[in-house]
Amino acid sequence: MDLAGNGWIWLTPSNLHSVSEPETTSRVLYYGRRKGKPLTTARQGVADRLLPQLKIDAPPAGGVLDPRTLFSNSVTETWLEVGFGGGEHLAGHAEHNPNVGIIGAEVFINGVASLTRHIEQKSLKNVRIFNDDVRFLLPALPDQCLSRVFVMFPDPWPKARHAKRRFVGPENLNTLARLMRDGTELRVASDHPVYIHWALEQLTQHPAFQWQVDGPEDWLTPPPDHVTTRYQLKAQKEGRTSHFLRFFRKSR
Ligand SMILES: C[S@@+](CC[C@H](N)C(=O)[O-])C[C@H]1O[C@@H](n2cnc3c(N)ncnc32)[C@H](O)[C@@H]1O
Repeated sequence: MDLAGNGWIWLTPSNLHSVSEPETTSRVLYYGRRKGKPLTTARQGVADRLLPQLKIDAPPAGGVLDPRTLFSNSVTETWLEVGFGGGEHLAGHAEHNPNVGIIGAEVFINGVASLTRHIEQKSLKNVRIFNDDVRFLLPALPDQCLSRVFVMFPDPWPKARHAKRRFVGPENLNTLARLMRDGTELRVASDHPVYIHWALEQLTQHPAFQWQVDGPEDWLTPPPDHVTTRYQLKAQKEGRTSHFLRFFRKSR
């Protein structure tokens, strides 16, 4: 991998998290879409121009990636957005927080192309893109390297028999608990009642996370620094209510 001269950091076995044997007990299978309509020539052009500098390659088995090596020295912390969709939310946060390096993971190539356009339009220097299932990246990240994680309007998989496909679940929460620094925020938003109930159940039962909440206004009002997402707008137009869950990594 070569991102502005930076590369993978190989650490000792005590720190290794193998990708071929991820810290999950089940096989990593991805069920969503990877491609949509063919990209326009202009979109393809931006993606082709920017992606070589921005993309994070899939970690080799046993590799460890220190996110600090991805960004310039002015970056003091790293955030992660899982499933950034069209990238509006990620680009907005990157613009407002130039000293934060944001890693965005998105499987859908059309979303990745959309984010590269936002990056170009806003001249962002603090974004890196993992164009694959984030679960292939997470095992390579070192303990306590993330200062915030966003999971905005994840695919709801509302049928009970698909519950294991929901991103907010025991395995991914264990991984995030390892990766997040004490006191940092895991923000989950959804407009799907099944998902919100599910996520609340998973998060409140998890020993590493604490819900920051006083009453309904906390989950019905977007956080003060929130950037509207495409799926949030879609939900709004179709009359569905968005919920915002703000959980914090407890002290170890
Ligand atoms: C319902 S869309 C929401 C997109 C965006 N967050 C928004 O609010 O507009 C969920 C997105 O998550 C992506 N996604 C789902 N699982 C993922 C995974 N394991 N790794 C990376 N991206 C994922 C999908 O490709 C999809 O674009």
